[in-house]
Amino acid sequence: MRINAALFASVLFPFAVVATSVDALAQTPIVIKFSHVVASDTPKGKAAQRFKELAEKTTKGRVRIEIYPNSQLYKDKEEMEALQLGAVQMLAPSLAKFGPLGVREFEVFDLPYIFPTKEALYRVTEGQVGRDLLKKLEAKGITGLAYWDNGFKVMSSNRPLKSPADFKGLRMRIQPSKVIDFQMRALGAYPQVLSFGDVYGALKNGVVDGTENPPSNFYTQRMHEAQRHLTVSNHGYLGYAVIVNKKFWDGLPSGIRSNLEDAVKEATRYANEIAQEENDAAMEAIKKSGKTAIYFLSDKEREEWRRVLVPVHKEMEARIGRDLIAAVNREAAMTVSK
Ligand code: LMR
Repeated sequence: MRINAALFASVLFPFAVVATSVDALAQTPIVIKFSHVVASDTPKGKAAQRFKELAEKTTKGRVRIEIYPNSQLYKDKEEMEALQLGAVQMLAPSLAKFGPLGVREFEVFDLPYIFPTKEALYRVTEGQVGRDLLKKLEAKGITGLAYWDNGFKVMSSNRPLKSPADFKGLRMRIQPSKVIDFQMRALGAYPQVLSFGDVYGALKNGVVDGTENPPSNFYTQRMHEAQRHLTVSNHGYLGYAVIVNKKFWDGLPSGIRSNLEDAVKEATRYANEIAQEENDAAMEAIKKSGKTAIYFLSDKEREEWRRVLVPVHKEMEARIGRDLIAAVNREAAMTVSK
């Protein structure tokens, strides 16, 4: 008769076997799937990688972070659903992607020209206004951990975009934000919501005529191969909220959670430090490619853009909240008057 060795051992040394399986359980790493839609060599891609390194090191291998970049797992809308369902544990969607979730207030970040400087932005993201916004995610089963910077957006198309009149009739790809929708309509364009992963193909095939993004996203998705003109307009901001599935997060052993919080803090510092450099380098690379003509608005042209786009703030008061817009403006004003 053959005797099962494990069974035999458990009869002879029951405590040893129990100890071994508890030990094995303790060694099984907690896996965090971190999905995102941009390339690895972008501010978000690099910050995610930095978070992974720090988290795995400080938890001494008890946590494994698996990063899935470039919409490899999910596109824009699906990744939000996957997070809520617990199919992935961590994301860093752009702040323009929270409206469809029912948290419209995040669209305050999309208002044209709302942040005169990065300093004004940081006062919001690192202050009470930013913390209150992240808290709104809890009702959706999401915990907001931090804001990661990217940068101010450029506009592109196959025709030069110098004045608002140049946008007339253009089909512009946008993120799913009503504020950006209004912004494009104010310019006389037709906004079209598309997932980030589909933008390059849509530009190449003429499904849309143009788009907006910071230079790093533009270059790393090879949009410069599909767009002949780019205008450095800095008309709006693009950044991220780092978010986790709340149930998963709350269920972590507290020591591990605190290690991960520290890793997020450090990755946030890093993200905000490299964002501008990454965008500057991308701008140089676009220039060097010779495929896209780069145009800088004159002061007079910028005034014209502002005249057309700033009224979007008023139009969006009912959606975003007048008090919130005023609070952001107050923070921004503090940096100007300093
Ligand atoms: C976009 O969809 O245009 C960007 O928000 C993508 C990203 O995550 O930076």
